[in-house]
Amino acid sequence: MRILIVGGGGREHALAWALARSPHRPELFIAPGNAGTEALGENVALAPDDVPGLLAFARARGIDLTVAGPEQPLVAGIVDAFTEAGLPIVGPTAAAARLEGSKAFAKAFMARHGIPTAAHRTFTASEYAEAVAYLEAQGAPVVVKASGLAGGKGAVVCETLDAARAALDAMMRDQRFGAAGEEVVVEAFMAGEELSLFALTDGEAYVLLAPAQDHKRIGEGDAGPNTGGMGAYAPAPVATETVLRQARAEIIEPTLRGMAAEGHPYRGILYVGLMITDEGPKVVEYNCRFGDPEAQAVVPLLQSDLLELFLQLTEGRLEAAKPVFHPGASACVVLASKGYPGAYEKGFVIEGIERAEAMPDVVVMHAGTRRNAKGELVTAGGRVLAVSALGADLAEALEKAYRAVDVIHFEGMQYRRDIGRKGLKRLSARGIVS
Ligand code: GLY
Repeated sequence: MRILIVGGGGREHALAWALARSPHRPELFIAPGNAGTEALGENVALAPDDVPGLLAFARARGIDLTVAGPEQPLVAGIVDAFTEAGLPIVGPTAAAARLEGSKAFAKAFMARHGIPTAAHRTFTASEYAEAVAYLEAQGAPVVVKASGLAGGKGAVVCETLDAARAALDAMMRDQRFGAAGEEVVVEAFMAGEELSLFALTDGEAYVLLAPAQDHKRIGEGDAGPNTGGMGAYAPAPVATETVLRQARAEIIEPTLRGMAAEGHPYRGILYVGLMITDEGPKVVEYNCRFGDPEAQAVVPLLQSDLLELFLQLTEGRLEAAKPVFHPGASACVVLASKGYPGAYEKGFVIEGIERAEAMPDVVVMHAGTRRNAKGELVTAGGRVLAVSALGADLAEALEKAYRAVDVIHFEGMQYRRDIGRKGLKRLSARGIVS
């Protein structure tokens, strides 16, 4: 069986790593992949948003199943193009991927279906004065979001009204987010702890993977600017049985029913970003794909064959799926370049990965890596590696991940030392760890 994975980050390395272990023994192609995925399959020099190129490649190489990692090709319609060509692919159609591609659509959809989320209003480019008036009536803190895809930078949590006006100006007047800022969503700030839930769904049946928590800010204690994500762990203790039951009944199931009722059944990976508030879980955002770095924590916990689950998903057989999970926990620590999420230099030699991976239960997922002319492994992006580890519990998973981090080195390497701390604190409050 030939599988094409679209994307080249840590998430795609995690997917390739899991699929390579499948008893189906698939042949893997990763477009474009990175220096880590080249050990698992063939890297293909095609950009993730080159839908015609990917389609031509899949046809020419007899690809049996495609998995799209990032959101851009999904929102651009890769699933529609592949499906029309009779090629099985994991992911939602462009119409269904609007749950991520248009925050304005997602908020209106949630309002139509009574799905809990923050109160909001959407403004178009000509409604700047109304948007300012709404902001002023709301007061701070408040959240200003570019409706379209903005590479994770389009949601600004504003502590003051001045900051909110500045965010609005950047989107509506200065067009700093281009077309993504043509519509702007202003929504009430939600206090609580964030949780990432991933459902694999064939449009009706779904299976939930281990609930994860991301660490979006660059600095320890959630300080500093937002990043793509500096680490993750799963299962996150904030996801109690009550929270999960509410999330299933009030969010995931109404979302799947609502999308089907509106004529756009959602098939693929549904990533629901939640805020666990005093009133229960509420949707912060939907994404139409796996999270990065959440995938690097969630995927290693899956003991069942991920490929079989993907086949059940594309063939509408998920009802029968009974996935088995590792009974413990996982943690992943992202190692980033100096300067990230701002400007950073590339090309620094990376050392120590073999030593790290020789440690039990550790796997190092590559993100921004490549081989230089001398064949050395060098940095090639902001987020360079994600060091993942499994443990009997969260404390052990974190300990193993950080021990592995200690033997890896590249110039300017930065990482957060507090991954999982909120989870440990919750467990400790329940008397589960000291
Ligand atoms: N970790 C956040 C995201 O993948 O969007």
